[in-house]
Amino acid sequence: MRRKEFLKSMAFLTFGALFPNSKKLDYISIENFKEKISSFNSSDPKFWKLIRDQFPIPKDFTYLNTGGLGSSPFVVAHKVKEETDILDKYPTPNHDLEKWWKVKEKCADIFGCDKEEIALVSCATEGINIVVNGLPLKKGDEVILTTHEHAAGNIPLLNRAKRDGIVLKTFEPDAKNWVGNLERLEKLITKRTRLIFVSHITCTTGQRLPEREICKLAKDKGLWVFLDGAQVPGMMPVDVREYGCDFYTTSGHKWLLGPKRTGILYVKKENLELVQPLTVGGYSDAGYSVEKNELKFQPSAQRFEYGTQNPALFFGLETAIDFLNAIGIDKVWEHDRALAEAFYQELIKIANVEVLSPEEENFRTAMITFRMKNITYDKIVSYLMEKRIRVRPVTEGNLMAVRVSFHVYNNEMDVAKILSEIKNLAQS
Ligand SMILES: Cc1ncc(COP(=O)(O)O)c(C=O)c1O
Repeated sequence: MRRKEFLKSMAFLTFGALFPNSKKLDYISIENFKEKISSFNSSDPKFWKLIRDQFPIPKDFTYLNTGGLGSSPFVVAHKVKEETDILDKYPTPNHDLEKWWKVKEKCADIFGCDKEEIALVSCATEGINIVVNGLPLKKGDEVILTTHEHAAGNIPLLNRAKRDGIVLKTFEPDAKNWVGNLERLEKLITKRTRLIFVSHITCTTGQRLPEREICKLAKDKGLWVFLDGAQVPGMMPVDVREYGCDFYTTSGHKWLLGPKRTGILYVKKENLELVQPLTVGGYSDAGYSVEKNELKFQPSAQRFEYGTQNPALFFGLETAIDFLNAIGIDKVWEHDRALAEAFYQELIKIANVEVLSPEEENFRTAMITFRMKNITYDKIVSYLMEKRIRVRPVTEGNLMAVRVSFHVYNNEMDVAKILSEIKNLAQS
């Protein structure tokens, strides 16, 4: 079954199943949350219980697809509503730039860069399009990518290939050997290579690619590197400067737990003049004159923003970042990894299960992917949905597998629940 058809049938199947007995809980303010969370140690189960209570996910529903879409805590939804209400009371077409820059400061903090290098975009796909379309690439120029990229990377690159004749070269990620990925990548580099485009963590097997080593190799060879970080910030600490990448993007609505339709793009300061802004308008410019045929772009990554915004979404994203910072990104990473690791270690013991996530622990993240010898991936996903467990089918790279994501609202009971159902399937 094609992925689109499969997702349609999932939508039908899940709609009724999602909302019974979801109890409305009162939200607590971000200040209150910060105060409460700081009174517990993260090794205390109350710490994670307090976090779990901040989400509207029904107690009897096991949500294991943050890699697809995150749930936002009540406080984020509240912030969006509050800001939307203000806008409806006193409609103001121009967003408050002072508040906007504060959001960017928080995003820059998460990325490890300057706020001037951040553009607020609608999703990771938009971030990718801005760079892939804006880079000065000519016919015959080559781009290296993995066979495990998301459609959000593949489609803009293919579009550029069709339009301008750039050439795409792929390598299969080596899931066993960290250095193997560098070797595979290096073999594809020629005199015409200009850009390396890879997922920082792949959407397929949740594999973390060796970001620092890839960036170093690219710099040694004089190439640009784009790390697609849709699956990263909010799951683990990030430092784009330390990696040495040229471009980085993420979704606000996955691991960052922000409102839907938010994203962040990083363009290294030195590259701001390199990427031609293609979709532009009010806010992109620092002055223009039609009479004099003059146009000057903003000196910062604001040049990639344009037109009327929905600022409530981005103020909500800021609150989501505050929420994660109150927990501590290191603690989030430790928690998510511990759950994924507990799942992985049991999963590899189950007969009929083939685990596709990396064998080398350094590669593993909060997403684990598997398939089964006795039952197809779509049947596994549907069966789990019947048991009120939401995972994600993986058809990219022809894997025909199932991906399981663990985030702050998950706990050991979720791990036990999905393992027990997979064991049932393995015996069927
Ligand atoms: C690696 C990767 N890149 C990009 C995207 C697209 O993200 P968005 O929907 O925010 O554009 C995804 C979504 O799952 C992804 O996994």
